[in-house]
Amino acid sequence: MKTNKATIRPSGREFPIDPTLTLLANLQKQEVFLESVCGGKGTCGKCRVRFIKGAPAASKSGSRHLTAKEIEEGWRLACQVKVGGEVEIFVPPSSGEAPVKILAEGRSIEKQIEPGAKKYFLQLQPQKLERPVGDIDLILEETGMGDFGIDLRDVHALPRLLRDADYRVTVTVIGDEITKIEAGDTTRKSFGLAIDVGTSTLVVSLIDLHSGEQKAVSVRLNPQREFGADVISRIQYCREKEGGLVKMRLSVTNGLSEMIDEACRKGGIERTDISEAIVVGNPTMQHIFLGLDPSYIGELPYAPAISRKARFRPTKGLGVDIGTYPVQTPPNLSGFIGSDIVAGIISQGLLESEEIQLLVDLGTNAEIVLGNKERLLVCNAAAGPAFEGARIACGMIGLQGAIDRVWFDEEDVRFHAIGDARASGLCGSGLVGAIACLLDLGILDESGKMGDPETLPEGLSEKIKKKLRKEGSEKRFWLSHTVYISQKDVREVQAAKAAVAAGIEILMRKMGIEIDDVARVMIAGAFGSYVNAASATRIGLIPKVRLDRVMSVGNSALEGAKMYLLSSPSREVADRIGDIVELHELSVDKEFMEEFISQMAFG
Ligand code: FES
Repeated sequence: MKTNKATIRPSGREFPIDPTLTLLANLQKQEVFLESVCGGKGTCGKCRVRFIKGAPAASKSGSRHLTAKEIEEGWRLACQVKVGGEVEIFVPPSSGEAPVKILAEGRSIEKQIEPGAKKYFLQLQPQKLERPVGDIDLILEETGMGDFGIDLRDVHALPRLLRDADYRVTVTVIGDEITKIEAGDTTRKSFGLAIDVGTSTLVVSLIDLHSGEQKAVSVRLNPQREFGADVISRIQYCREKEGGLVKMRLSVTNGLSEMIDEACRKGGIERTDISEAIVVGNPTMQHIFLGLDPSYIGELPYAPAISRKARFRPTKGLGVDIGTYPVQTPPNLSGFIGSDIVAGIISQGLLESEEIQLLVDLGTNAEIVLGNKERLLVCNAAAGPAFEGARIACGMIGLQGAIDRVWFDEEDVRFHAIGDARASGLCGSGLVGAIACLLDLGILDESGKMGDPETLPEGLSEKIKKKLRKEGSEKRFWLSHTVYISQKDVREVQAAKAAVAAGIEILMRKMGIEIDDVARVMIAGAFGSYVNAASATRIGLIPKVRLDRVMSVGNSALEGAKMYLLSSPSREVADRIGDIVELHELSVDKEFMEEFISQMAFG
């Protein structure tokens, strides 16, 4: 009988293949995640693998994304080929088998610890014949609670629990809800989870609610990447594929469930010690996580199914195995501005600041917040996922091998790749650094046009000059033997940075201020942590401002989720935030297009 088997190089891992599925689907079954920005439609060209043995015929879409030489060398698009028999394939290091650089930390303002979930140890008076009351009333009298909420199942278990525990119980209260009743004194064991569901990455942070200390953290790539790189492709997947929403939801909740177990193991605690979890993310990620159809976020007027905070018990209400404790998602501000930005606002103290601050969160899209405690403006700029490496020929997210820094000296253009590995692509910070260098070297002009190899500025070293080559009709600047930046890539970055810069300019205009009035420019997100401020201002992604005013604040969404867990006043502000901030919709702003065009140049 014919065996259908694939061997992955360089790891040597073997697995059986199903010849009725595409190679991409087979690899995903094995948890080898290739970049698949278009979700397997054959349009992004990212899911490249090289056949060492058993190459199938190249598909039509493959031929559009691969050169004749590459096809001859065995390169194919994994989403466009089905294979049988014995094959051997080389899978690039960006396949998720490689170590991942995921941002699990950030800067935040200091706050007094006052967690939203509170535990009380109660030594109740046993029921008496003279005055029997409801078992639950014993708890309410002791805690002084009036109106309250409780899960009926906890009431079912209460009579036996009280008597078995000799009326000594610990009650967990969140707001006006009794969320847990345990036998004995468990007040020392109170932990919370701050969870960031990003489009590209997932982070679970286990926090001690007494000390505020982070006990453990678990990070991984969002397994939903296999359904598309950005929120629009995920929304499309929900709309177009039968069972798409369920599939995507399970992929994220199963991933989170494993990560929660990992964090508990590392932190030396049981899941039952967790009092609550706060989950932040953009509205599409939040909808999918909650099992809500995100389709209407993708069409005018981009309305989310919920925008207020939502609290629920996952295993009891929605059949998701991430725990029995309450899970809360802070509010969204619109269909594109989610609880991750709300969390960013509270973690950076924008609503407490006298000074005007600018927060730019660059992920698969850009959210911009400008203002202080008097007035706060927020907008979403459709920058697209270029800074996450999508739609860039050699683009990739910040995995091992991604070029994250580029600089030059008299002799050459130099770079650093994550993990000091061989360069296999460019992540956002590397892309911005490379463009800034090409501008400074005169290889790119201010309009974004790449010079001709024959007419490069005098004074450039021969080494640098040789790196600019014409391949067919395309000009490419080669950073290494395999990684280049093309004229088309430069255009993609120009459009992305123009959207962000135009958004910032319009918010400043609306507020009647200039960039010099902004005390601090904070760049959030993984990209923000690694991008060089001088390069970001050089390409005009952020306005020209004194560099000492620019700071990276890391994963501000996760920091905000921690603050939501640990500070009741911050939680109250976050829950009312929809009434405080002013949303500005750029897509209906008459000045936006004009501003966008004027920001396209690098000058
Ligand atoms: S081309 Fe294969 S996933 Fe996009």
